[in-house]
This record gives sequence, C-alpha cells and structure tokens, in this order.
Amino acid sequence: MPPPRVFVTRRMPGDALDRLAQHAEVDLWPGDLPPPYDDLVARATQADALICMLTDRVDAALIAAAPRLRVISQMAVGYDNIDIAAAAAHGIPAGHTPGVLTEATADLTFALILAVARRIVEAERFVRDGHWRTWDPGALLGVELRGATLGIVGFGKIGQAVALRARGFGMRVLYTTRTPVTTDLGEPAALDDLLRASDIVSLHVPLSAETTHMIGERELRLMKPAAFLVNTARGPIVDQQALVRALHEGWIGGAGLDVTETEPIPPDDVLLSAPNCVLLPHIGSATLATRSRMANMAVDNCLAGLRGEPLPHRASTNS
Ligand code: DGY
Repeated sequence: MPPPRVFVTRRMPGDALDRLAQHAEVDLWPGDLPPPYDDLVARATQADALICMLTDRVDAALIAAAPRLRVISQMAVGYDNIDIAAAAAHGIPAGHTPGVLTEATADLTFALILAVARRIVEAERFVRDGHWRTWDPGALLGVELRGATLGIVGFGKIGQAVALRARGFGMRVLYTTRTPVTTDLGEPAALDDLLRASDIVSLHVPLSAETTHMIGERELRLMKPAAFLVNTARGPIVDQQALVRALHEGWIGGAGLDVTETEPIPPDDVLLSAPNCVLLPHIGSATLATRSRMANMAVDNCLAGLRGEPLPHRASTNS
C-alpha cells in the first residue's frame, strides 16, 4: 500500500515535518504565503490528510471536493477558518493545538499591556526621531499597573495565564466566563460591569457567531475614557470601525492589538493612523519552542486521524 498523502500548507518550525515524512508522503506547499484558495482545494482533493493554518479557508466546498480526506489538522488553537460542521457531516475529524501556546500568548498579552500603558512604542520612536533632549519630569507619562483593574473577557487557559501574570504586577482582576471556574485569580463579573470597571480590557474568547463584534460601539462607550483595549484573540471580536472612532474621539485611552479584522491589515486601513494604537502581526504564539510544539501536535493529530484513531486534540463545534 502506498503511504498516505498529506498536504501541508506551510513549512512548520522544528522537526515535525521530518517525523511526518516517516509515515506519509508529504506534499508541502512551497510558498512563503498561504496557497491561494483554488490551489488549496486542488491539493486537498489529492490528499488523505490536510495540515492547515489559520490563514487557510477550509470551507464546506473544499471538504465536499476532497473525497480522500480522512483528517484535517490545524496548527493553531483557534479554528474559525474551518467549517467543522461540514467536516463532521463527511465523517472527517478536525484537530487543533490547545494548551501549548497558552504561556507564549499570555506573555505577549502582557507585552501589549505594558506597551500601551507605558507608551513604549511612542517612546522608542521619540528616541529614534531625535526628540530626546533631556530627562523630562513631565514627558511620556504612562499608567501604573499596580492597583489597576484588568478585565479579562474569556477565562479559559490563556485568560487564566494572563490573570496569573497580573497578580505579579499587583493588579485587580475581573473576568467573564461561560463556564464557572473555581479560582482565586480574580472575581467573576458580567461583561458590562467589567467594561465599566476596568483600566485594561483584554480579550481571550474564541471567534464564533456569538463573539463576532462582541466589542462594538456600545461596549467601547461603556469603557473608561482612559482605559485600554488589548486583543490577542481574533480581530473580528472587535468592531474595528467602532474602535477607530473610539480612538479618534477619545472614548477609550488606547489599544494594543495582535490581531485585526483583516490580516494582514491593508496598508490604507484607517486603523493604522488611529492614535494610541500599538499593532502587531498576529505573533501571540510566535516563540520557537511554542511553534515547534504546535507543529508536533498538528502532526500527532494528523497521524492519529490517518490510523483511524481518536485525535488527541479534536476541535469541536462548541469549544
Ligand atoms: C492560534 O493558535 O489560534 C493563534 O491565534 C496563533 O497561534
């Protein structure tokens, strides 16, 4: 029997691909950019398994066009790009990579919190632009984290890891959660109360129909005028047009975003010229150790699916 064929949509860090190649014929997309949709479909139709990224649209049409496909394995914890229901209807399990990116993403959340609260990017630019003439008692004043209230929207693994870091900074933590948790890391709150009370609001919910634009004009107007919004989850959780107005009109104090509604952000997007906004290119999980673990997990899910075994980390429609 020939080995199963696996289409992998991007080169992955670490040795996961070598491991996969011991069990399968690997069809690796050669580009640095994701395969265009038509290529993705064409290659998936020839494959027994698909290892994909959050940049690949794995929709019902692709799934229907790929009769050989036995497993879809995503190298990410979020999988809003995959039509899980369509996959399930065709008996195809889908895997993802929860847990291993918790710490890296929580670290980056704090990098953004510090960047906006202490005006790090602005201060760095100030030095490079030659504006630094003296130590100035009144220049570039930021906000102290000790005693500030951090509102964590979504208290899963990453939300809790952010709360743990907040404890070290002496912050008060409020959180929202769908599933009650027993914890001394913070106090549960309704979303509106959290928005009103927080100095920093950080988003950690998955993207779904329910969470799309969950932070819109109404919610931004509930926030304190000096508060910051931090998003390391998914761009469409925030109504970006409302956020741009919030930043220009001072409804909130600033934003730190690792994710945007369209990625990459178009060069003419008005968000790029909004004041007090730090933007990163979706690097929450971007450490070598974490990305290598994610790649290995994606391979483990893929190989289990090819063997007809339960996936170690299966994506479900309601997670
Ligand atoms: C994920 O895994 O969902 C992150 O957004 C990227 O690592």
